[in-house]
Amino acid sequence: METKIFKIKDINKDNNLIKEAGEMLKNGKLVSFPTETVYGLGANGLCEDAVKNIYKAKGRPSDNPLILHISSIEELAPLVREIPKEAEICIKEFWPGPLTMIFKRSNLVPDCITGGLDTVAIRMPDNEIAREIIKYAKVPIAAPSANTSGRPSPTTAKHVIDDLYGKIDCVVDGGKCIIGLESTVLDLSEDIPIILRPGKISIEDLKKHLKEVSLDKSIIKQGEIPKSPGQKYKHYAPKGEMYLYVGDRNKIAEEILKKAKEILKDNLKLGILATDENMTKYKELSDLIKIESLGSVESPETIANSLFDKLRYYDEIGVDYILAEGVDTSDIGMAIMNRLTKASGGNIIRI
Ligand code: TXA
Ligand code: MG
Repeated sequence: METKIFKIKDINKDNNLIKEAGEMLKNGKLVSFPTETVYGLGANGLCEDAVKNIYKAKGRPSDNPLILHISSIEELAPLVREIPKEAEICIKEFWPGPLTMIFKRSNLVPDCITGGLDTVAIRMPDNEIAREIIKYAKVPIAAPSANTSGRPSPTTAKHVIDDLYGKIDCVVDGGKCIIGLESTVLDLSEDIPIILRPGKISIEDLKKHLKEVSLDKSIIKQGEIPKSPGQKYKHYAPKGEMYLYVGDRNKIAEEILKKAKEILKDNLKLGILATDENMTKYKELSDLIKIESLGSVESPETIANSLFDKLRYYDEIGVDYILAEGVDTSDIGMAIMNRLTKASGGNIIRI
């Protein structure tokens, strides 16, 4: 299949391309588009055949439900049976934005979206290109992250092209995603709001506006079965074996250095995912291995933004091992550590 690439430089001047992308979606085609979190792979959310093609293109298990994306708040009511008062608060505070909410679903939502569940996930993205495309499509848009299942989510159009070129109809290139990690998923279908996937909107942010918010057990403790079907799969798994080091920053660097030297003795290739603060501590190895900084611990947003790109980079150059520094779990740090933990397949070294 030929994959069209639409480069959007100016949302007004390139509006004809945005309109064409929206119409392609309406007509059952697969179109990847940017959001503020990661690139999505969109399809008409009311058309079963189009939705099935998403699963095919991504190689995604069919029991993993999809998020429906809307462009205005009025589009929510027809898709759900009720809008709880906590949802009303979150809509006011966080939409449009990187918060997906789970509602009891209406009859309009096809089974192939929900993986057979009685609930549906809905998000109104903040990215203007995304909202314009959905507006032109005139239907809710099902959109998982636009990566091959199991690969890190795409934060640039290049990442999407690397994974899905020839398998989808169009990629709308709107530049780099601002946040770089997928949305927070908040389940509002039961009595107490519960975070199923941490994201930019943190538990601290939610607690400022909601009386009670809890965290799915699987986020806090490894080995617990997650409530969200998508969270149980191996995610973001880099090709190399990854170890995540957690604890005192100086000691982490010492341990990583020690382990790196052992790996090098065996003539294996490795990469280090460091923080700005520790970069100089690995200096003696910098001629031998690739050391990439995720950013400063003072600016966790930067770390969130570069994480998937760096994981993809190590896959591209081909390393046998990745040694990664952990970060503090407050605010967006919880989402960063959640993705790092998944990427490492639970290989965590606590120091
Ligand atoms: O930021 C994002 O959310 C991106 C952009 C494109 O919007 N989308 C995204 O979609 O990350 P995806 O499919 O990669 O992740 C959706 C997550 C999965 O873990 C899925 O299992 C969960 O949301 N989910 C969807 N519907 C659900 C439901 N009814 N109940 C529980 N979890 C649900
Ligand atoms: Mg995904």
